[in-house]
Amino acid sequence: MSARVIDGSKIAQEIRSEVAEAVSSRLNKKLPKPGLAAILVGNDSASEIYVRNKQRACEEVGMFSEVFKLSEGITQDKLLGQIRMINHDSRFHGILVQLPVPRHIDERAVIMSIDPNKDVDGLHPINMGRLLEGQPIFIPGTPAGIQQMLLRTGNDPAGKHVVICGRSNIVGKPAAALLLQKMAGANATVTICHTGTQDLKSITNSADILIASIGQANAITHDMVKDGSVVIDVGINRIADPNRKNGYRLVGDVEFDGVSEKASAITPVPGGVGPMTVAMLLVNTLKAAELVD
Ligand code: GUN
Repeated sequence: MSARVIDGSKIAQEIRSEVAEAVSSRLNKKLPKPGLAAILVGNDSASEIYVRNKQRACEEVGMFSEVFKLSEGITQDKLLGQIRMINHDSRFHGILVQLPVPRHIDERAVIMSIDPNKDVDGLHPINMGRLLEGQPIFIPGTPAGIQQMLLRTGNDPAGKHVVICGRSNIVGKPAAALLLQKMAGANATVTICHTGTQDLKSITNSADILIASIGQANAITHDMVKDGSVVIDVGINRIADPNRKNGYRLVGDVEFDGVSEKASAITPVPGGVGPMTVAMLLVNTLKAAELVD
């Protein structure tokens, strides 16, 4: 089998158009422009690109957005103070702090300081808890994007065995919580694999839908996937490439060429999950604005 390549950029564009229409209809009703505050601490070049993309995406759909660029050496107290100020600033309906933050800052304290009703990344324990109990307000962008990709390509996860490789708070755990819910667009049987999993290959080989969020280039090889499965690659890894001007290229966690020979559908890197994460951030920012209407 040669897999269909799922075009994340195209599906993300559909969602962005839907959000743009909803924003325009708000403005016609004289409702406030949804606003997003993006906080970037330090000078990590990949994070800078991600934040710029998010800001651009907001502007394209008619939202207001501001990037707060803070120095690498900012104290945790100062950062939390800045977040609390934005919590009380009614121009901003959504707040995101680009992760990771520098090592001297406690990521959990940062997430805890965001007003849960502005937490458009869905990472505050209140939002995680709501997702787990099946009453989400903000679903983290990557899991929400994966769900939309599946549904919009005719790969409803209902009744399927979804295997997730990776147990992060930002992808693996919320993806599992989302896809196991007894609700439309979910209702899957979910297994999470991680670094403590024994005989990983036998589990991944039983997946109808395999979600790779490992953080290791080409970790999923063709012998680890079932014929006809759907493979979603969350990884974004830089590997050296002397033929490129910048000296590197981006690859996923899935060894694309080999796995494409067996899967029925697969997401590319770049152009797969990445653009969906940004699109779902816009969906959440719109939702955050609707919460205060
Ligand atoms: N770093 C990598 N992915 C994400 C994300 O979805 N949100 C935030 N805030 N930081 C990230």
